[in-house]
Amino acid sequence: MTKHKSYKIGVIGGAGYVGLVTSVGLASIGHNVLSQDLNLNRINLLKNGKSEVYEEGLENILSDLITQKLINFTHNIEQTISHSDVIFVAVGTPSLADGRADMSQIISVAEKLRDLIDHHTIVVVKSTVPVGAIEIIQDILSERLTIGEDFDVVSNPEFLREGSGLVDFYNPSRIIIGSNTDFARKSLKEIYQPLIQRDYKVSNPFSIKNQIIEILLTDPVSAQMIKYASNAFLATRISYINEIAGISEKVGGNISDIIYGIGLDPRIGSDYLKPGIGFGGPCLDKDLRALITLSEENYFDSVMLNGVLRRNDLQLQEVINKINFVLGSSLYKHKISILGLAFKEGTNDVRHSLSIRLAKFLIEQGAIVTGHDILAAKEAAEMEDKLIVSDNLNDVLNQAEIIIILNSEKIYSQIDWSIISPKTYIIDTRGIVNIDELKKYSIEYDILGTK
Ligand SMILES: NC(=O)c1ccc[n+]([C@@H]2O[C@H](COP(=O)([O-])OP(=O)(O)OC[C@H]3O[C@@H](n4cnc5c(N)ncnc54)[C@H](O)[C@@H]3O)[C@@H](O)[C@H]2O)c1
Repeated sequence: MTKHKSYKIGVIGGAGYVGLVTSVGLASIGHNVLSQDLNLNRINLLKNGKSEVYEEGLENILSDLITQKLINFTHNIEQTISHSDVIFVAVGTPSLADGRADMSQIISVAEKLRDLIDHHTIVVVKSTVPVGAIEIIQDILSERLTIGEDFDVVSNPEFLREGSGLVDFYNPSRIIIGSNTDFARKSLKEIYQPLIQRDYKVSNPFSIKNQIIEILLTDPVSAQMIKYASNAFLATRISYINEIAGISEKVGGNISDIIYGIGLDPRIGSDYLKPGIGFGGPCLDKDLRALITLSEENYFDSVMLNGVLRRNDLQLQEVINKINFVLGSSLYKHKISILGLAFKEGTNDVRHSLSIRLAKFLIEQGAIVTGHDILAAKEAAEMEDKLIVSDNLNDVLNQAEIIIILNSEKIYSQIDWSIISPKTYIIDTRGIVNIDELKKYSIEYDILGTK
């Protein structure tokens, strides 16, 4: 086994989705990680091996790391900066009302780094930040420090998908290192070397042995553009298939067959081609808006990206139209159940979830809305207090005039329809229900994209 260099790494924003997976992942490949976050409650839980962020297998690896003293968590930023030769920054960059990325968390971290760095430190920006942000961070640090001598800044965007965060850490589709200095590039390559050689300090069930991990060295602007362009492309695929589903429905097609047929073309493939309520969550919508704003600021009219966003905004209305078609224009006191409350299956993240936005709208119209999610029931109830939330699927199914399936969690494709009143109407936005079963029990349904 090769002896890899172990780095002293700090992760700022280490209790968030990206920061925590990064902290656990880097510690598990042999680095000495101190993970820091402002959220004291989360840090205290993490010290005891418990995580509010749900990722499959995360707590198991975390507990091995804690037992072997390979990771530490802290609230203290001074301690983190003095501990570390390399700092990964994974704080949030939410959308502002005008679509630009809110840089306030990044700026506040940069100011701390400016004031506290006392030995050469490589600052690695994991957060998704707009083009120009690396220069802003460098400018802030340069108010007291000298670039190259005291610090370097690297853009190392993250591509993990919530719900398979650890699979993506151990088998990244690519590692992008955006830096103009050889020292920082070399260090980052060394940090990821054990990952590439699949050399772990604690075992994990996620490693896919034969998958080659590619590192791309580039400049910071291109690194950030790769991240934004990737998310914009994924958003485009979703809006594209939602648009095709809309047309298919009008002309009498079957969207599952259409997707299968499209996907057989190897130039297209079938990933990210599933219709639904649209893209929500913490990334696609915000990153698409940030890219559109960036292009506007640079006097470029991004006609296509604006269309992608417009289709997504209309998609929720498509689902509302279906509900009104069944219940009429007044939803007052109608009982509606929603299956899938997180922004997608496999996560407990409800941030910018379109299911929650739909629930809110229906509640505002006077409907009685009950929601189910196997991972995000608590989080959804905290976000929308008038939503009746349960993790008991049968309860939720039995209370409804309409059941709307919004994510493709496996249990929703395996529902036993014999226990449902035949008067219940099913709206399946993900195309996962067994139509033959519904027909068998004379349950009426609407599959998005299929007449
Ligand atoms: N969530 C994803 O799937 C994903 C994927 C790829 C990239 N990203 C990007 O990664 C970044 C982080 O996203 P996230 O979803 O992990 O966000 P998050 O909100 O889950 O985590 C951010 C964390 O930063 C902490 N924080 C904020 N300011 C701080 C400060 N000054 N000092 C210390 N901690 C601070 C918060 O308490 C929080 O725990 C964003 O830029 C996002 O766009 C997210």
